[in-house]
Amino acid sequence: MLQDHVAASGASASGLARRHALLLLPSASGALLRLVAGAAAAGSPPLLAPGYALAGVDEGVVPSPAVKAAIDKAIDSVVNVGKAPLMLRLAYHDAGTFSKKAGDGGLNASIQFELDRPENFGLKRGWRLVEQAKASLKGTPADGLVSNADLIAWAGARAVAVTGGPRVPLTIGRADARAADPPGRMASERSGPQALIDNFADKGFGVRELVALSGAHTIGGKGFGDAATFDNAYYTSLLAKPWLDKTNPMWDHIGLPSDHALPEDPRTLEVIQEYARDQAAFFDDFSAAFQKLCATGVTLA
Ligand code: HEM
Repeated sequence: MLQDHVAASGASASGLARRHALLLLPSASGALLRLVAGAAAAGSPPLLAPGYALAGVDEGVVPSPAVKAAIDKAIDSVVNVGKAPLMLRLAYHDAGTFSKKAGDGGLNASIQFELDRPENFGLKRGWRLVEQAKASLKGTPADGLVSNADLIAWAGARAVAVTGGPRVPLTIGRADARAADPPGRMASERSGPQALIDNFADKGFGVRELVALSGAHTIGGKGFGDAATFDNAYYTSLLAKPWLDKTNPMWDHIGLPSDHALPEDPRTLEVIQEYARDQAAFFDDFSAAFQKLCATGVTLA
């Protein structure tokens, strides 16, 4: 039954089975054993022990083709090119509460309890679309197997794909939080390069990953190339600095202070230069970094 829900890549069936054995052996209560047995009997994927926290390593369950098709359909009903910037930003703002130092936060759908925070302005619409996608899974093979956190991650990945960006393969099995994550974890748009580097370091991301993930601003309204196209225009613009050209009527609307800060540090500048000349390198790194973001602080349900 396990094999029905686990494809060859990502978490292998034997890997999961091994982890289950390790996690379940000490449990004499039988509660977890029942969970796993029940899940197998019902044809749903196995459940890992609650509190099995992962940090940036995607070890969830790879859905079977039927489950994946149902999720894709639900996601496609709410994510299109116009909604892509909103949904990509939603995923970052849900995951971005993670702190390695504190050992909490992450991609867990806690964003639903954080929508009134100033940094989350505009994201209520995105959360409503997640609820809509969840409702549309009723009666499908994915019913009951997919969390809100999974849908947030998948919607973010779909946002990248529909605007022409790289594929980001994702698993399912993320647990949903029941309360808000601690405030004050998102990078400020007033941040300089060191503050950005430090903020992302506490989420487990290095300089290269910070620069790659920031490339998400290539879509949406910040003036980096075509708002609906995921490409490396973010980096070519960061090098051209069009916000300095006061004869450009849009100069004041191009990028955030935090975007402008990135080319001002040699560590980040070097990566910007690389992505500006090599879009394939940006796509590869973005895909890997976004996959990691979607596993940030995740507890498997
Ligand atoms: C590096 C630190 C970051 C800061 C300070 C930041 C801040 C912001 C702010 C303030 C906006 C709204 C701009 C506006 O509408 O005027 C925005 C938009 C956006 N952010 Fe970020 N962001 C950061 C990194 C990221 C990352 C890592 C992602 C995704 C992986 C992301 C995805 C987006 C997207 C897609 C938009 C466009 C939303 C839209 O147009 O509806 N951002 N960001």
